[in-house]
Amino acid sequence: MDEKRIHLRAFESDDVKDLHRWTNDPVSLATVGRLPQTYEQMVKQVEKKRQNGDLLLAAVNNENELIGWVFLKDIDYEHGRAGIGILLAPEARGKGYGGIVMQKMLEIGFKRLRLHKIYLTTRGFNEQAISLYKKLGFVVEGTLRQHAYVDGQYFDTYFMGLLESEWRQN
Ligand SMILES: CC(C)(COP(=O)(O)OP(=O)(O)OC[C@H]1O[C@@H](n2cnc3c(N)ncnc32)[C@H](O)[C@@H]1OP(=O)(O)O)[C@@H](O)C(=O)NCCC(=O)NCCS
Repeated sequence: MDEKRIHLRAFESDDVKDLHRWTNDPVSLATVGRLPQTYEQMVKQVEKKRQNGDLLLAAVNNENELIGWVFLKDIDYEHGRAGIGILLAPEARGKGYGGIVMQKMLEIGFKRLRLHKIYLTTRGFNEQAISLYKKLGFVVEGTLRQHAYVDGQYFDTYFMGLLESEWRQN
């Protein structure tokens, strides 16, 4: 996969329309969300993230089409850590873009923001995401038992982390 085909740019207010569509697709609802969101709720969520100082970036391809977003949240410079999140457009999934987008954001986190550690949580049934994160060097640091309730069932959530030194070696 040619990583030059994907670029990260600032996430603009106009992009919320696409984010709203991706967020409400059935896979996203199961893997990252819970209930369908209105456009207004989506706008508010994005605004809240901005106010929290989260770094929100849009991933675009060479044709300037939006293929997803990626963000660093709860950026804590004292401890040198931040959480990371990713959501690709349904039509962009399963093509290897997730790794490129994550790798570009990790580079920003570690090399530009000088973070020491980047972490995430993921639902235990999200095998595609877990496999991607492990490939990037993330390790499972803990299991939050029956932490997510999806379609009538409780699922474990994994807390995964990646240190800057591990990322550099990977
Ligand atoms: C999760 C997500 C970021 C992954 O990005 P992607 O580009 O679609 O991922 P890929 O197609 O490269 O798959 C990643 C790896 O998982 C593997 N994989 C795919 N489906 C799998 C499955 N059911 N079980 C195990 N591994 C699986 C792939 O083979 C690939 O490994 P490889 O590179 O060694 O072949 C993306 O699909 C997405 O945004 N999904 C919806 C939202 C979401 O789940 N976000 C993450 C929440 S924590």
